[in-house]
Amino acid sequence: MSPLPSDYPRYAWQMLTGQRAAKEAETHAQRMRDLQPWLDLGRPLDILDVGNGSLRPQYALLRGAGHRVTGIDFVNQPALGWKAHAYRLLRGMYALQLGLGQAAMEPTGLLKGNVGVLPFPDATFDLAVSYAAFEHFLEIPKVLTELQRVLRSGGLLWVGIHLFTSPSGGHNVSFTEYPLRTLPPGTEPWDHLRKRRRPFTVPLNQWRKQQYLAAFAHHFEVLHHYCALREGEQWLTPDLQVELADYSRDELTCATLVLVAAKR
Ligand SMILES: C[S@@+](CC[C@H](N)C(=O)[O-])C[C@H]1O[C@@H](n2cnc3c(N)ncnc32)[C@H](O)[C@@H]1O
Repeated sequence: MSPLPSDYPRYAWQMLTGQRAAKEAETHAQRMRDLQPWLDLGRPLDILDVGNGSLRPQYALLRGAGHRVTGIDFVNQPALGWKAHAYRLLRGMYALQLGLGQAAMEPTGLLKGNVGVLPFPDATFDLAVSYAAFEHFLEIPKVLTELQRVLRSGGLLWVGIHLFTSPSGGHNVSFTEYPLRTLPPGTEPWDHLRKRRRPFTVPLNQWRKQQYLAAFAHHFEVLHHYCALREGEQWLTPDLQVELADYSRDELTCATLVLVAAKR
């Protein structure tokens, strides 16, 4: 997600103080724990990072752990200008804070492309991972069909999804705080499910938890799923529960849904 201009100072502060790097390291460690019952992560694996993003922290962490990592994303292309320069600086800072050499950030394994049309032969990867990207994919069945194809027999998929139905799921108020703990002045909780006063600034498929579970189960064997991050319990008043009665409490307060699945 791109920051809104007013978010930049706070974002920069979180980068400088290492708060963001610490969160990325936590996500990486959690993923290792999730996968450990099914996968030997001690040997070098062929891994695909699906929607690696401009800062690519998870791509770097997996490379730093000794794996052969390929990333695919629209943003993977040589770029010029102040934004590209800022991303380069931030990636360098991430590498330092995460205790990785700069080599882990190098773009050697990165491809520019659409995750719905993967430019890889069948059975190329042992593991596909994706963090905070699935909620932006507009053709999920196509993506899942492709992931199923490029995974090896018994290959695994680990996905962390920022759920649309959570308070920060509209992506407008979520950038600087994740999970969301304070609402910016003038913002109503779950505005994106109610009056939609704030426009969306990034593509969002608006999928709900059950849609993800059904789509993943259609293409893969779902081994495990859980809510990794909660937010918004304090704003779910009895009045709001009535107004948002189409949504369960679980989906209204789950900011990150994690799914672990295996190729059948
Ligand atoms: C919020 S970023 C997540 C980045 C990264 N995984 C992270 O955790 O920092 C979502 C990324 O998905 C990419 N994306 C969205 N739809 C895509 C598509 N159809 N094909 C390739 N990349 C896509 C965007 O370009 C963006 O970089």
